Amino acid sequence: MHNGRAVCPPGMSGPALQLLSLQHHSRDVPGMAMEYLIEVDDLSKSFAQLHAVRNVSFKVARGEVLGFLGPNGAGKSTTMKMITGFLEPSAGHVRVCGHDVASAPLAAKRRIGYLPEGAPLYGEMTTRGFLEFVADVRGLHGDARAARIAQVIAKVHLEGVLEQRVETLSKGFKRRVGVAQAILHDPDVLIMDEPTDGLDPNQKHEVRSLIAEMAKDKAIVISTHILEEVDAVCNRVIIIAAGALVFAGTPAELAARSRYHNAVRLAVRDCGFEDVRAALSARAGVGAVEALDADGDFIRVLVTPSDGARIIDVVSDAARTGRWDVAEMTVESGHLDEVFRTITTAGAAGVGSAAP
Ligand SMILES: Nc1ncnc2c1ncn2[C@@H]1O[C@H](COP(=O)(O)OP(=O)(O)OP(=O)(O)O)[C@@H](O)[C@H]1O
Ligand SMILES: [Mg+2]
Repeated sequence: MHNGRAVCPPGMSGPALQLLSLQHHSRDVPGMAMEYLIEVDDLSKSFAQLHAVRNVSFKVARGEVLGFLGPNGAGKSTTMKMITGFLEPSAGHVRVCGHDVASAPLAAKRRIGYLPEGAPLYGEMTTRGFLEFVADVRGLHGDARAARIAQVIAKVHLEGVLEQRVETLSKGFKRRVGVAQAILHDPDVLIMDEPTDGLDPNQKHEVRSLIAEMAKDKAIVISTHILEEVDAVCNRVIIIAAGALVFAGTPAELAARSRYHNAVRLAVRDCGFEDVRAALSARAGVGAVEALDADGDFIRVLVTPSDGARIIDVVSDAARTGRWDVAEMTVESGHLDEVFRTITTAGAAGVGSAAP
């Protein structure tokens, strides 16, 4: 074990002291030919009578970005704290890059970058001072230290606030500094609790691009309440509700659970809704036909399939047969917010697919 080079600033406690032990080590772990960088096995956490996390299992491989969804209080942050070793599980195990977080916490934590919820930072430090402190804690030194600090400043666009005290930064900039400290030591595993919370649309886009770029050689978990973010950056999704896993799959599989999956949106000129509905309802595979709105000569109609199958060909054929003047025809992939509501309000039992 190396001795830390970092100096502990006054008033430091909790996570900061834990960080002090995370000196950068070489990645010479025997038997590293592993597929999964994060393995969460039957993890539970109780706070007195409250079962905050119940028997949650999942794995994340290198190259994957896992979106972690769930309503407020579902247990996302609690799970993330257990993965990063900041909270001890009541039961179950977490392995990071093959290291058990409970029995080999330092080896595991060296491989993890963690952006906690709300991105707690040391307010009295300047941005530059804070990043230098984190670099010391992570055991970086010499040219590598200077180069990594310069890289993250450029990546997260902190050039304009380097000499400003962190406590005086705006919410979005505080979050950017939090992202910078999480990626400073170029960890294999990144756990980010709502990384785009509080960012403006440009910064949201930047942070998502950064995550996508880093995903190639890391395993990343992000929690979010922004469902479009799942489509934008995640290749897998898990949802928890009341502490239990209720869905695990790809974003496309999640969208496919929507009743609007494969629905066809249609705008037709000079045609009555009842005629359109009658013609479409007679076709096999067509479920509901709803009038959306009328706009001048147009009527807009939403046609949902009866069994989730593709009905675009059926709708096109009905349009040709009826000689409708079609101005617009699009296929819906599904409404994530509707699926999220359905899955997380239906109760934890028997809703989702099994954990991977
Ligand atoms: N230290 C604690 N002591 C007691 N209860 C706690 C503690 N930490 C979390 N909880 C409770 O555990 C449950 C899960 O909380 P958690 O913060 O993990 O939810 P979350 O999914 O991250 O929610 P959000 O979307 O609001 O961030 C909540 O009911 C919360 O009040
Ligand atoms: Mg949370």
